[in-house]
Amino acid sequence: MFLLNRHPDHRQPLTQQDAVTLGLAGAGEAERFLGHRDNHAETPLHALPALADELGIRALHIKDEGKRLGLGSFKALGGAYAVMHLVLEEAGRRLGRSVDVAELHSADVKAIAAGMTFACATDGNHGRSVAQGAGLVGARSVIFVHSGVSNERVAAIARFGADIVRIAGDYDQSVREAARVAAERGWTVVSDTSWPGYERIPGLVMQGYTVIVREALKRMPKPPTHIFLQAGVGGFAAAVAGHLAIVLGEARPTVTVVEPARAACLFETAKAGHPVAIAHSKPTVMAMLECYEPSLVAWRVLSRIADAFMTVDEDDAVGVMNRLARPAGNDPAIVSGESGGAGLAGLIRSAGDREMRAALGLDADSRVLIINSEGATDPGRYAELVGMAPDEVTRERQPA
Ligand SMILES: Cc1ncc(COP(=O)(O)O)c(C=O)c1O
Repeated sequence: MFLLNRHPDHRQPLTQQDAVTLGLAGAGEAERFLGHRDNHAETPLHALPALADELGIRALHIKDEGKRLGLGSFKALGGAYAVMHLVLEEAGRRLGRSVDVAELHSADVKAIAAGMTFACATDGNHGRSVAQGAGLVGARSVIFVHSGVSNERVAAIARFGADIVRIAGDYDQSVREAARVAAERGWTVVSDTSWPGYERIPGLVMQGYTVIVREALKRMPKPPTHIFLQAGVGGFAAAVAGHLAIVLGEARPTVTVVEPARAACLFETAKAGHPVAIAHSKPTVMAMLECYEPSLVAWRVLSRIADAFMTVDEDDAVGVMNRLARPAGNDPAIVSGESGGAGLAGLIRSAGDREMRAALGLDADSRVLIINSEGATDPGRYAELVGMAPDEVTRERQPA
């Protein structure tokens, strides 16, 4: 399925609030916070000339977020950043002065953080980030997971010292349950999705993601003409597209939002022209994108900045994982988890379809940016779908 954005707000400027959330100052702050994390390193940006050739485009760059902060996904940038921010704000209130990130490990701030509990619902990756952030500042975290989250993913969250609450039901139900219990107990919800009256903290989470754009633009020979962004609730796509629009203005790339056909809440929202919750379908292999209601903030941004919405199928996602594991020519091998390559799956579909190519203006001069949003965050599942262990993938392609 493919749909051009015909919303009346399309190409209108971002609201003042969203422009602040995703603007230069916020992105700069997110980058500065990262500097205070032990395992911080810029993630690699790979050129894939052989695949670009095959797709009939000028250049293809893939930013590999599988390497982010030891967590295996870009989510490491959002939840943990919001937790750090919220602890410093609370410390500021209690100490009666502004408290800088450089003081994060001071005795005063630690004592305040120790009394705070952060909660969230997750498909896996976001919860890992919130748990890591809480561990970093010495706070408590309680992570709500639904019945579809694999034991391997749950164990990876618990490793950061989080308390896990497993609920019956799906992601959206776990979001509601986390919010309900947190309100009852006085915990702070750090959600990656937003709803009426709850926008600021998901905004901080999104602000954390803007670092991806800053790093990518620094390394790309020229800014991209097109970007394909995978979406669950849309926070990732909105943060990346929104920051690109702020930095590049009219020269921003054409933005296509890509979702699994089985969980296309933004596609249906775009079709309806307003946020809609969609009916539940069969589980998708793109487990991190399995969301049935868009984030309110994300939709507000994407209704203005996204140029097209499309879906990909289960086979497309698995095909991309395999293609990146065994690339053509001298392209580098990339470990891409089940949800990580959905944007690339969208590009491959679009590039092979005459009408979609024309609608997106995709041609021999196009320079496309893709973000591999996760590595093998569930290594067992990865090996099953690719027929190789994650470490075998990159080892095989090392230069002799
Ligand atoms: C690997 C991966 N890619 C993409 C997404 C989509 O992000 P969002 O839900 O903000 O659209 C997620 C969300 O969990 C994710 O884990």
